[in-house]
Amino acid sequence: AHKAFIFDLDGVIVDTAKFHFLAWKKLANDLGFDFTEAQNEQLKGVSRVESLKKILNWCNMELTEEEFNRQMALKNENYLSYVDEMEDDEILPGVSKVLDHLLEKNIPFALGSASKNARTILKKVDLYDKFDAIVDGTDVGKAKPDPEVFLIAAEKLNVEAKDCVVFEDSVAGVQAANIGGMTSIGIGDKNVLHEADHVFQDFSEIEIEFIEELLRKE
Ligand code: G6P
Ligand code: MG
Repeated sequence: AHKAFIFDLDGVIVDTAKFHFLAWKKLANDLGFDFTEAQNEQLKGVSRVESLKKILNWCNMELTEEEFNRQMALKNENYLSYVDEMEDDEILPGVSKVLDHLLEKNIPFALGSASKNARTILKKVDLYDKFDAIVDGTDVGKAKPDPEVFLIAAEKLNVEAKDCVVFEDSVAGVQAANIGGMTSIGIGDKNVLHEADHVFQDFSEIEIEFIEELLRKE
C-alpha cells in the first residue's frame, strides 16, 4: 500500500511557478526573443542550468561560459525579488488541509524539488519544519525527468518507491515519478499532464477521502 507522499514545490505547494515564468520571460526578452507559455510549460520542473540551455537552444544562441553564468545569476536575482514579496499565506489553496491530515495521521512526507531556493521558500511560508525530508536542487545532480530527486526522497523516508505518491505540476516531474515507479498525481491541466495516474486542477479538488483511498491502495 502507499505509505508516503512526495511533493514538488513550485506550482504545487506555492504559486512560485508564475515567478519563474516572469523571470525566464524577462531573460529571453532581454536577449531579444519571445517566450511563450508553451515554452514555459517545458521548463517547469527543469533545473536552472537546463532551463537556460533550452532557452538558448530555442533562440539558436550561444553564450560564453561567463555570460551564461551571468544570465543565470540575473534570472535568479529577478526571481528572488518576486519571492521576497511573498506573504506566508501564499500556500496554494487546499494544500494545508492535506498536509495537516498527513501530520495528524503520522504519514511521512517529503519535498522533491529541482529548486536551489526550495529551503528559503519553505521557511518563508512556514512549512520547513513540517517535512520529514527535503530533497532539492542542492542535493541532486540529475534533472527531472530523471527520477533521482524522488528516489532520494523515498530513501530518506525509508519507503520503497512503489509505495510513494508524488504530486507534480510539471510534465518532467510526472515523468520522473512514473520512471521511478511511483504513483503520480498531476496538479494542473489534464491535457498537459495526461501521463499522470490522476490529475486535479488544484489541491482544493482533492478530498481527504482520496488521500485515504491512496493509503489503502497498492
Ligand atoms: C523547479 C521549477 C523550475 C525551476 C527549477 C530550478 O523545478 O519548476 O521552473 O527552474 O525548480 O529552480 P531554482 O530556484 O533553483 O532556479
Ligand atoms: Mg513544479
